[in-house]
Amino acid sequence: MEILKTKREMQAWSGLKKKEGKTICFVPTMGFLHRGHVSLLEKGRPLCDELVLSIFVNPTQFSPNEDLDAYPSDIDNDLTLAKKAGVTAVFLPEKDDLYPGGFQTEVTPGPLAAHLCGKFRPVHFAGVATVVTKLFNIVMPDAAVFGEKDYQQLQIVRQLTLDLDFNIDIVAGKIIREKDGLAMSSRNAYLSAAQRVSARSLSQALQTAEKKIQAGETDPEQLKTELAAFIHSFDDTRVEYICFCDPNRLMDITRISSKPVLLALAVKVGHTRLIDNTLINR
Ligand code: PAF
Repeated sequence: MEILKTKREMQAWSGLKKKEGKTICFVPTMGFLHRGHVSLLEKGRPLCDELVLSIFVNPTQFSPNEDLDAYPSDIDNDLTLAKKAGVTAVFLPEKDDLYPGGFQTEVTPGPLAAHLCGKFRPVHFAGVATVVTKLFNIVMPDAAVFGEKDYQQLQIVRQLTLDLDFNIDIVAGKIIREKDGLAMSSRNAYLSAAQRVSARSLSQALQTAEKKIQAGETDPEQLKTELAAFIHSFDDTRVEYICFCDPNRLMDITRISSKPVLLALAVKVGHTRLIDNTLINR
């Protein structure tokens, strides 16, 4: 497994592989890998000849009041997991290499970024779109895997790939959950034991909604009220949003029909912001 620390090294490595006729699959991450990330690597491994993992905590996708400085990191464990998952190159850039002094260009996503998390994290998706665009140009992959846990991010990346003419297959990886249903996230590490119990309320709310919809409930507002009350019955929880939306454009829906619906939610448990979602097919 090669470790490449600069964009020049990464570009040279990818260029060489391409010259040799090899294909490259790419999994971008911010590190502190867990089973969710490993499942993305496992999904990507058979797709191409080479598998590249990037680890970079991208400052431009955090607002000043968010957890950039506290973001967890364990590079030794990340490298062990990467090797086990069959990664052939790890890209570990420094901030100044990706954002040198004088950097000023931003990729601004369109209306997809205005819904769900975009309402609460105003700079987030421009930061994601910018760094993903840069990483695509540096790694030059044929395929890239993104998790469905960040469903809105996945849709925005699909759209930017189309809009900016990247010839990259965007592949979705399923949400991986703890035994009790909590979606895997690096941010789960922030939770105290008591908050960890409250965090279960997210996946339980998704399951409750799914059951009610399968039983015939069609009113998103009614469900939102019930789900918010359920989540708030757990200690230290504050719902940021609960949305029923169309899974492609992420627009709110006013009535649940036989069409697939995305139920997405964001909840603060203490200071930790958790997101989760499920696609419901009646
Ligand atoms: O999903 C993430 O970990 C990040 O948003 C990504 C895609 C690596 C961009 O920084």
